[in-house]
Amino acid sequence: MKHWDQFLEPYKHAVEELKVKLKGIRSQYELHSDHSPIEFVTGRVKPIASILDKAHQKGISLDKLDSEMQDIAGLRIMCQFVDDIKTVVEQLRSRNDFEIVEERDYISHKKASGYRSYHVVIRYPVQTIRGERMILAEIQIRTLAMNFWATVEHSLNYKYKGLFPEDIKIRLQRAAEAAFRLDEEMSTIRGEIQDAQAFFTRKKEMQQDGKK
Ligand code: GTP
Ligand code: MG
Repeated sequence: MKHWDQFLEPYKHAVEELKVKLKGIRSQYELHSDHSPIEFVTGRVKPIASILDKAHQKGISLDKLDSEMQDIAGLRIMCQFVDDIKTVVEQLRSRNDFEIVEERDYISHKKASGYRSYHVVIRYPVQTIRGERMILAEIQIRTLAMNFWATVEHSLNYKYKGLFPEDIKIRLQRAAEAAFRLDEEMSTIRGEIQDAQAFFTRKKEMQQDGKK
């Protein structure tokens, strides 16, 4: 157990630090703009039992966990709109406190289950008493609707032990489609509100110019 504690310690550090940093992006947008692309951030270290399960399933030997399991440190960024995801990814790409090693776009290419999210895997330096150590962390970026679907599907998956009856599988795929349409509709509504705001601002400016 002490060995696991030692192994997981830098991952715990990384998750805590990255949560602070990502929440920092959110609060800066809140202060400097009228919309933050980040709604909220969560983070977790993968539980030991899940690490062992996944290592077993994927044939990853335990002494290669640090290089072959990318999501021992996991962060999640939730956004209101699909467009916000792009903004967040660009923010991540522009940083120099970590390096992006891989991006997986499950938004343009959804998984067979219906799962949608944008995954970014980073190499993050953790300062330890024995010097700097690089660890991998997975950042999942998704809308609130994508998160709702993934959360429910995940808990059902757990319940059915990954073996969904065919009809449930199909209904979950349909639910994912509904979540997708909800995201589209929300973007349209937002676009129309922004257009209307721009129209009224212009109208007001013209009225004020007329008074001068
Ligand atoms: P892993 O070996 O599990 O990492 O799968 P992968 O490497 O083939 O795919 P990826 O790393 O992109 O996805 C892994 C993570 O994405 C999982 O740990 C989940 O958090 C999430 N994920 C991927 N597919 C699904 C899905 O069908 N349903 C849900 N709820 N989450 C998913
Ligand atoms: Mg993976």
